[in-house]
Amino acid sequence: MNKNDWNPDLYLKFDKERIRPSIDLVARIDCDTPGKIIDIGCGPGNSTQILVNRWPDSVIIGADNSPAMIKKATADFPNQKWILFDAGNDNINDKFDLVFSNATIQWIPNHDKLLKRFADLLKDTGILAVQLPLFFDMPLSKSISEIARQDKWKVATQGVDNLFTINTSAYYYDHLAKYFSEIDIWTTDYYHVMESQSSILEMIRSTGLKPYLERLADDNEKKQFETLVLEKIKQDYPLQSNGKVLFPFKRLFFVAKK
Ligand SMILES: C[S@@+](CC[C@H](N)C(=O)[O-])C[C@H]1O[C@@H](n2cnc3c(N)ncnc32)[C@H](O)[C@@H]1O
Repeated sequence: MNKNDWNPDLYLKFDKERIRPSIDLVARIDCDTPGKIIDIGCGPGNSTQILVNRWPDSVIIGADNSPAMIKKATADFPNQKWILFDAGNDNINDKFDLVFSNATIQWIPNHDKLLKRFADLLKDTGILAVQLPLFFDMPLSKSISEIARQDKWKVATQGVDNLFTINTSAYYYDHLAKYFSEIDIWTTDYYHVMESQSSILEMIRSTGLKPYLERLADDNEKKQFETLVLEKIKQDYPLQSNGKVLFPFKRLFFVAKK
């Protein structure tokens, strides 16, 4: 396994928090039975199960460019179809009724090109449904960027902020309007109830913090970087009176019909 590949077990540790947006997104898709569905960036297959539960009679493919994620999905759900697929570059010789993508497109550059690729994957009456985290709006992301800019870390972590592509709702509306006739865009603020401030660190270690940690030389440096992030988390996300911690998480959704 590539040392920088995703860690499905760590990712699934916070499955309850991560799955909510898929449930909410699927609930807003107005379609009786899409014949063929593709879940782009399916990860370990967690979002795909929400699609399977809603549309048990559809043909559903889970697609992801991480070998570790596809291996985990295949092991946990051997009767479903999983493919290694890079959504930014690979082509599929097929058309779908629903292209679904939860918590993935922020990892893929050039959303103008990507939305066109998604539209091209759809049949004439197809639906696109996407959710992405508004990571840059969170105090946590600002704190991580600030730490990364410190002298000790700035060379190693140079350019990592630019690995995430997150645009405004106005951007998505304008680009979607080129290919879709009906567009529904909304945001939701989740308030995840975390056991502790360290749980926030643990939750983002396998996602938003991952590309920063990957650039550091060794476990010792990773530990030092994480300690600084945890100090900031303690300032930004105070303890509630019962000792738990609220972790606000804003997410942008869109559902577009051709
Ligand atoms: C945060 S996980 C989301 C997993 C799942 N959809 C969920 O809702 O929890 C992001 C996934 O996007 C995948 N990913 C990132 N870039 C991708 C690309 N270019 N093509 C396909 N998948 C990609 C990652 O491998 C990872 O599994």
